[in-house]
Amino acid sequence: MTHSPDATIDPAALAALPKAELHLHIEGTLEAELILELAARNGITLPFPTLETLSAQYEFTDLQSFLNLYYANMAVLITEADFADMTRAYLRRARESGVRHAEIMFDPQAHLVRGIELSTAVNGIASALASSEADFGITTALIAAFLRDEPEDSALEVLEALLAMEAPIIGIGLDSAEVGNPPSKFIRLYQRAAAAGLRLVAHAGEEGPPSYVEDALNLLGVERIDHGIRAVEDKFLVQRLVAEQVPLTVCPLSNVRLRAVDTLAAHPLPQMIDAGLNVCVNSDDPAYFGGHVGANFAALVAEFGWDGATVEKLARNSIRSSFAAAGRKDELLDELAAWSASQT
Ligand code: ADE
Ligand code: ZN
Repeated sequence: MTHSPDATIDPAALAALPKAELHLHIEGTLEAELILELAARNGITLPFPTLETLSAQYEFTDLQSFLNLYYANMAVLITEADFADMTRAYLRRARESGVRHAEIMFDPQAHLVRGIELSTAVNGIASALASSEADFGITTALIAAFLRDEPEDSALEVLEALLAMEAPIIGIGLDSAEVGNPPSKFIRLYQRAAAAGLRLVAHAGEEGPPSYVEDALNLLGVERIDHGIRAVEDKFLVQRLVAEQVPLTVCPLSNVRLRAVDTLAAHPLPQMIDAGLNVCVNSDDPAYFGGHVGANFAALVAEFGWDGATVEKLARNSIRSSFAAAGRKDELLDELAAWSASQT
């Protein structure tokens, strides 16, 4: 029942649906209001110094047009407190979206290039995550994402520094401009991360072709694909992803705002669910794309008229595909079963 136009689900129930968020860039949670507040706090003059002028920049034509603003806005992140405040603001909003476990990416190279020390970003984010369970009831994990439009040697150097400082990361990811920067560029990086016992994910098939998804699996050994929507263009790849139940962390509102798809109605997610792919719903960069994971679910339900069983399945996929400990997954699956029982 993925396309029934007359099925309904109560918005409050949707917000209470217990879920894991597995594809989230913490720098992409920086709301325009907080950008201006941090700019004032740090004495930084932004090119768009008012809410009105800044908000007018949030129209994107593709991934690169978004990345330009995303990196420019990071200029306001200077101190550990800035990183901690950004992270806490995300956790507060994620809780309102029903997120109970979050795996959070950050872009260390994007801060180093601005002269911000690795320890400032890591310690600031980690300090907010340390009290996340107590403050917000959200368990968390941190993933260092590397910029694929930078050389592999830069990523390797930063990974070594993260390992040397015993940064509390559970894995690595690969993000930024996809086309022209294929997985094959980062084989040594992923080998090093695997040898260090880290979990492996990568963006693939957002704007890039299905072959990037295949290469991320074959050449990098990733356990999860971020996005993966263009996999639907290759039926043999779909068969493999279904057979192996490779998790795909889909971000519907992001895909619409970055024009990876024309409209939400044209998004391949219903088709992906019907094919038996292991998909879940995520927000990517919620401050830029029209909302958090709850807003993504709400838009999908409004568009496709999904019933409780469909959203429950997506939430179950997110919990099962997470890197949370088995006991935590069981706890969240029990919560999900209780949610389901409350719907009947
Ligand atoms: N960095 C932040 N958001 C991203 C996205 N959607 N794709 C690639 N890199 C990103
Ligand atoms: Zn992303």
